[in-house]
Amino acid sequence: MKKALTMMEEELKQAFTACGYEEKFAKAVLSNRPDLCEYQCNGAMAAAKAYKKKPIDIAAEVANKLSDSRIFSMKEAVMPGFLNLKISEEFAAGYLNKMAGEEKLGLDEAENPETIMVDYGGANVAKPLHVGHLRSAVIGESVKRMGRFLGHKTIGDVHLGDWGLQMGLIIEELRDRKPELVYFDETYAGEYPKEAPFTIGELEEIYPAASAKSKQDEAFKERAQTATFRLQNGYAPYRAIWKHIMAVSLADLKKNYASLNVEFDLWKGESDAQEYIPDLIDDLIRQGLAYESQGALVVDIGEETDSKELPPCIVRKSDGAALYATSDLATIIERERDFHPDRYIYIADKRQDLHFTQVFRVAKKAGIVKKDMPMAFLGFGTMNGKDGKPFKTRDGGVMRLEHLIAGINDQVFKRIMENRTVTEDEARDTARIVGLAALKYGDLSNQAGKDYIFDIDRFISFEGNTGPYILYTIVRIKSILTKFAENGGKVEAGRILPPASDSEKGLALQLLKFNEVMETSFEDLAPHKVCQYIYELSNEFNRFYHDTKILSEEDPARQAGYISLIMLTKDVLTTAIGVLGIEAPERM
Ligand code: ARG
Repeated sequence: MKKALTMMEEELKQAFTACGYEEKFAKAVLSNRPDLCEYQCNGAMAAAKAYKKKPIDIAAEVANKLSDSRIFSMKEAVMPGFLNLKISEEFAAGYLNKMAGEEKLGLDEAENPETIMVDYGGANVAKPLHVGHLRSAVIGESVKRMGRFLGHKTIGDVHLGDWGLQMGLIIEELRDRKPELVYFDETYAGEYPKEAPFTIGELEEIYPAASAKSKQDEAFKERAQTATFRLQNGYAPYRAIWKHIMAVSLADLKKNYASLNVEFDLWKGESDAQEYIPDLIDDLIRQGLAYESQGALVVDIGEETDSKELPPCIVRKSDGAALYATSDLATIIERERDFHPDRYIYIADKRQDLHFTQVFRVAKKAGIVKKDMPMAFLGFGTMNGKDGKPFKTRDGGVMRLEHLIAGINDQVFKRIMENRTVTEDEARDTARIVGLAALKYGDLSNQAGKDYIFDIDRFISFEGNTGPYILYTIVRIKSILTKFAENGGKVEAGRILPPASDSEKGLALQLLKFNEVMETSFEDLAPHKVCQYIYELSNEFNRFYHDTKILSEEDPARQAGYISLIMLTKDVLTTAIGVLGIEAPERM
């Protein structure tokens, strides 16, 4: 259904044109003086210059034309030429009733749905999933869900780092620990075992040990590089070990992502793109784009409009090895072939900005994608500890995601048990849901590109702009509805009445922005705008709840109206957190 703001602007446009002014001046914006009005139109100020009139005269003329408006109950021209507007209670109620009856609460799906490739997660196989990957998973999941909610065909791909030096490190460490394994017998010609030569527990320990060793032991590091090279060139025994590493780690990664409620459509990785690399390189040379520079093969990416010079994209090192950028280009070739995306969105650390600029430009220059393919990089900032430095464990190591989550859940559990209204089992389950919401919302409520402070005490607080506060609001509505039903009331969406109090109106006005917020938040790739919206909506609801006796209201029509209004509020909140990848418990 049409956005409320669009409807407002349509009326304003009619009024402006009827008075002889261009419709481009008819913009409505939220009021910055909520004490005076709800919306405002500042168009008369600009029109005054174009038509050489006093702004206040134009505003007054337009206000006059709006005298029988269906949408605005107040339209007041004030000095020096603002048009102060209030929304009619009848219009608001009508809009909300329509919203309540629609499947997506008044949001119109995209007219031309796009296929959108969302590349996020980006875990590196065999390395522990740490907090650095948390942001990519959490932000990416919400971006993907936002796009899907708008009706696009979004494809989420985890794009694993599964082809790097970590593989060689693990192979050589394994050789040192278990030299008797057939993989290390150059003369062995039989089948390789089906069973992996390590458990996930061992693997988790092998990689950090090998990585530490390579920093002290130059010979070991060289062995690992050679092993990586042989693996990448198809050496069968190492391929066999690699497959084991993949199988064991993938099972663990899937478990970890599932516990975050992060779901990928594709579990592809850098390794899947390798087969496209030889042709890619040939093609770049054939087109005259790639040239040798100090032994490496590079592609220039500079454009006239660049404010500073950007380094060329290296597609092959002097030792013949492919690089991160080469993998990403090859992956685009595969994605074009398999999915023909209309748009690409990548979510990774903002320090990878240059990398993605290089990849996007080469992909366009080389015709891997069409010249005007929308390719967005959503780079996120660092998650810092309270000391303002990148988040670490107490002993200074990288924090494993599992431990981080368990720690949050424990704290939430304690808080829930303080109230002692639920059984311990229920409190555990609830703590898991609320803890995850605290973590995700704590991240998503910040503008992605900014660094933020991971402050567990604040994130799990039931007050303020936090996940638990939003969930608490939803749970509060659920409990009012339960009580209402227990008193013999019928919980069903009836007619929402025109708001009769300030707080009821405030709630209504916030609700009717829903479709607009969902659209702009996706176009701006800005989950934090959804968070801001639901935070304000929760505040409006709680103000209304504080002001209004819902359960003891004596007028049945009014009470039914309240019930319908809070049901809609619950649906909007639940839908919006769902889009963020967050769930609400039944009770808290
Ligand atoms: N594995 C990479 C890392 O840990 C992130 C991958 C991001 N996606 C991509 N297509 N490059 O930094």
